[in-house]
Amino acid sequence: MGGEVKPAAGKGLKSWVQRHLNVGFAVGFLLVLFTYLVVSQQFAATTPNVVTTTKVPRVAEKQAIGAPGDADGEGSKRQPERQPEAAAAADTSGAVPTEESPKTDDRGATPPGAADKVVCNTEGPVSETCELDGDVRTNGSARSVTLVPAGPSSERQEWKVRPYSRRTMAGVDRVTVTRLASPAADDASSAPAPCAVTHDAPAVLFALGGLTGNYWHDFSDVLVPLFAASRRYGGDVLFLVANAQPWWLAKYEAVLRRLSRYDAVDLDRDSRVRCFRRLAVGLRLHKELSLVPGLASGSDGRPLSMADFTAFLRDTYALPRAAPVRLSQSPSPDRRPRLLLIHRPHYRRIVNVDEVRRAAEEAGFEVTVASPRADAAVAETARMVNAHDALLGVHGAGLTNAVFLPAGGVVIQVVPYGRLERMARADFGEPVADMGLRYLEYSVAAEESTLLEMLGPEHPVIKDPEAVHRAGWDKVAEYYLGKQDVRVDVKRFAPTLAQAIDHLRQQ
Ligand SMILES: *[C@@H]1O[C@H](CO)[C@@H](O)[C@H](O)[C@H]1NC(C)=O
Repeated sequence: MGGEVKPAAGKGLKSWVQRHLNVGFAVGFLLVLFTYLVVSQQFAATTPNVVTTTKVPRVAEKQAIGAPGDADGEGSKRQPERQPEAAAAADTSGAVPTEESPKTDDRGATPPGAADKVVCNTEGPVSETCELDGDVRTNGSARSVTLVPAGPSSERQEWKVRPYSRRTMAGVDRVTVTRLASPAADDASSAPAPCAVTHDAPAVLFALGGLTGNYWHDFSDVLVPLFAASRRYGGDVLFLVANAQPWWLAKYEAVLRRLSRYDAVDLDRDSRVRCFRRLAVGLRLHKELSLVPGLASGSDGRPLSMADFTAFLRDTYALPRAAPVRLSQSPSPDRRPRLLLIHRPHYRRIVNVDEVRRAAEEAGFEVTVASPRADAAVAETARMVNAHDALLGVHGAGLTNAVFLPAGGVVIQVVPYGRLERMARADFGEPVADMGLRYLEYSVAAEESTLLEMLGPEHPVIKDPEAVHRAGWDKVAEYYLGKQDVRVDVKRFAPTLAQAIDHLRQQ
């Protein structure tokens, strides 16, 4: 049969798809595509154009970039800008650490010239980044970043860096990073433009666009890597944002304000030359929705972990619960752990959600059923999730809300039928464990999948998931992610719920 998958159900299937095909449909595919590529290298050659042809929907928002409204009380202020005459002096004085500058950062105080440095990693498996120290000049609308050496150095070097954390991301323009050969420039045409604005603070240049707009990608591709890139500066860092989406910056404003005390710069509309002593181009994705300790440090110099990121979020959104309910110390039977059941509205739904709710209640949980809305205010979602001890849902972006659970809580991922476990673990299993949460997984059997009644037991989608994977990402996404709902066998599921309760008892 050569791994070819043909829809057996004919017209009935088509209309079913049409009824359910909406914008979110495509987004759900994107959520998992990249990890699918990472974990299933055999598909790498055939799948990337899936991304180029799919548009991620944008939530309309009216707020402007760098809009005021400070969610965490740290106070917002504009990046102090010096005029060119002052800039000349600044150019030779080296970066003068401000009071808030991290003391662990010795490079910032190095005399000019000695610190000239461009370190680029354009060969990373997922991301490409450059770090520049010295006389660094940017022209945002030209997408250029230039290091002007203090004295004659080696030859001119140039790198092209995509400032999105996934280097293969189509639709995100690259930044040209150049190290000039000498202060006077190589030739007249590339003479370094004088500084229009000089910044004391270092900067991180990154791009939105790409897969942002999908909740999971917002965190995995931007917020977590940005935390890793900027936390060490303790807020004294400027963000230069390419493909700046005002609604996105507004949605995550509280997080951005906590990482940077300056208004973000809309890079695409910035044709002035800005000068820095230190600039990072691009964000490094350590691993999906997580951090690898040792690759980034905080302002105290200690390594950052994913648990630090979730602690940072609890702080940012003033979430009251850092730990789950203490069951061991409260014999009172009316004190029950709370479980948030995420009910996806369109596909990969739990068909028997009421039955699952009752099963969870019988296991000892107090249950909330919620359908996350893409346009919900993050602060509101965060508070709602944080009021719970456990999160339960079918594989999908809603499980990203695990970042707001109290540490020590539990996440149960229901993995749809079709050998999706590897991907499910990479997207959520490992991240959740890295957050300091207990991860439990429930794999749906064919009998619990609506694909069985839709396609029949003889269809390759049911009989031979491996063949569907061999047929490529399109088929995996189409069937297992796009056409499947689950009817959880609550008897089979009961031990998983019991494990979740047990875990919370041991806290
Ligand atoms: C920055 O780049 C843009 C686009 O290439 C160009 O029009 C502008 O003159 C540049 N600005 C400076 C100050 O060189």
